[in-house]
Amino acid sequence: MSRSFRLYPTAEAADRADMAGMAVLVFDVLRATTTLTFAFENGATEAFPASDIPGALRLADELSHAGVLLCGERGGRKIAGFDLGNSASEYTSLRVAGRPLVFASTNGSRALLAARFASRAAIASLVNACAAARWLGAGHEPVALVCSGKEGAESEEDLIGAGAVLHCVARAGGGIEADEGCGRAREMFLSAAGDLGAALRATAHGSYLSEIGFAQDVAGAAELDRLDRVPEWRDGRLRAGRRWPGGA
Ligand code: MLT
Repeated sequence: MSRSFRLYPTAEAADRADMAGMAVLVFDVLRATTTLTFAFENGATEAFPASDIPGALRLADELSHAGVLLCGERGGRKIAGFDLGNSASEYTSLRVAGRPLVFASTNGSRALLAARFASRAAIASLVNACAAARWLGAGHEPVALVCSGKEGAESEEDLIGAGAVLHCVARAGGGIEADEGCGRAREMFLSAAGDLGAALRATAHGSYLSEIGFAQDVAGAAELDRLDRVPEWRDGRLRAGRRWPGGA
């Protein structure tokens, strides 16, 4: 029996949708979901996405007893007064192990919040694509692939990430009843797969990040299936989730 897959190209589109009864994967390949997956891999205990800076400050205030780290970016750069920006390389175990995070990135946080009332929701990117496909395989619900996009417009890198997950699902023999967006995402992944680093560098946001000094983040985000962890929404926050090993 085939399973229905639907793609939401932007956080705004996902925000208008009803995700109840669905299994949702949220993508912000450059860089929020890539960075958060590394943060959990390195021992962060939980993360609270915040859609704006005042909301992040409020949450951090409520959680200040717990050694919370205030994290996020605007225009790709760390927000003034925050502890960490949005580079995976900042989220070392030295910095994040045992600590909760409040995470306010421009588009990724909004897409993550749009998924919070789904039956199951988790975060995905190229670095955990096949693990995320295995996480999907643990249930039978219809699937929503939520791409963050950039300020209301779709982002190529998120579609490539969603395409990577679809490719893993199809390779594992899963029947897919996909909408047009999913079909396009899969084609974009297949045409980028020969050199994902070059494909991400060529995207509008990849080239912007490289210009402002984050070329390493773009290269790191292209490392397909480097991790097998799939962080999930649970009890109103993102948690580390478990590993979904199985080889790429
Ligand atoms: C976002 O949420 O808009 C991004 O993760 C931006 C970035 O820091 O590259």
